[in-house]
Amino acid sequence: MNAAIDEAADVLRTGGVVAFPTETVYGLGADALNESAVKKVFQAKGRPADNPVIVHVAEMDQFTAIGRDIPSIAAKLAESFWPGPLTFVVKHRRDLPAVVTAGLETVAVRMPDHPVALALIRRLSRGIVGPSANLSGRPSPTTAQHVLNDLAGKIDVILDGGATRIGVESTVVDVTTSPPTILRLGGLPRESIERLIGPVSSVSNAEALKRSPGTRYRHYAPNAKVILVDPGDKKLILELLATYRAKRVACILHSIELPTSHDGPRIIVTSQDDYARMLFDSMRTLDEFDVEVIIVEGVPEIGMGEAVMDRLRRAAEG
Ligand code: TXA
Ligand code: MG
Repeated sequence: MNAAIDEAADVLRTGGVVAFPTETVYGLGADALNESAVKKVFQAKGRPADNPVIVHVAEMDQFTAIGRDIPSIAAKLAESFWPGPLTFVVKHRRDLPAVVTAGLETVAVRMPDHPVALALIRRLSRGIVGPSANLSGRPSPTTAQHVLNDLAGKIDVILDGGATRIGVESTVVDVTTSPPTILRLGGLPRESIERLIGPVSSVSNAEALKRSPGTRYRHYAPNAKVILVDPGDKKLILELLATYRAKRVACILHSIELPTSHDGPRIIVTSQDDYARMLFDSMRTLDEFDVEVIIVEGVPEIGMGEAVMDRLRRAAEG
């Protein structure tokens, strides 16, 4: 691993772009202090310039070197959940290239829980930007193959760390407000945060639009029509299968068993964590198979279920 990390860090040091695994999804890395390198990341992804990126750090010192007026509540959260799927939005110091923050007064920072990501940042000894390593408008990548499918020829190196453990992006929390505000549901459940610091606010969709630029853009939705069904509603699923008899239909289920007469592709998931892990991968796969309708059994909105249902609703809206 060391030789690969050394080589990738050299590429970053000379202004190149490296895709790297994290515990959530793959990121597209560049030296956060190198403006032209960060611009390459935006270019490779086709990301709009007004959508700021997350800076990934490996040490608390790197966080305090980038952010300012970091509230004690953030330090408390970091102590419990870093490294991990939690991103803070804080005020930033002046020397950060404006392209990183899209000109905002705040910056998003997280410490990923992945040995490859941490080693890469430590080797460079600086923060690296890391938006998800997909083309804008595609699902976040959870394998190196997904990255290759979207970005081959546009980036310098991919560090392959296998499939990611969590599968949905980090939870983004704005700690410039009191109480903090969840801007994006993700890999760290709300309950875990609230158990530590008490109730946090959430933003309405309209407000998220103003405060978290990423939510302004159309989120990924598969080409297929996605129909989201309440957990356990077998009756509705059978009705839908009858309605769409003539189409190529796939089902993603966890508690419902279908009669063997259903011959479309079926993805059966056993836990909420598995749902999160396989969500983006199955959307990519079902699109490749030209599935026309995807019937998804929803999950209860507790723990990771909240982030999973958020991504499923967006997919169903598209
Ligand atoms: O798990 C993750 O967070 C992954 C891995 C690679 O770390 N990264 C990721 O980055 O999902 P990205 O760029 O795809 O999503 C970052 C989100 C976007 O919705 C963006 O608008 C928001 O964070 N964001 C970044 N900077 C912000 C800021 N200063 N204020 C509010 N929202 C911000
Ligand atoms: Mg993204």
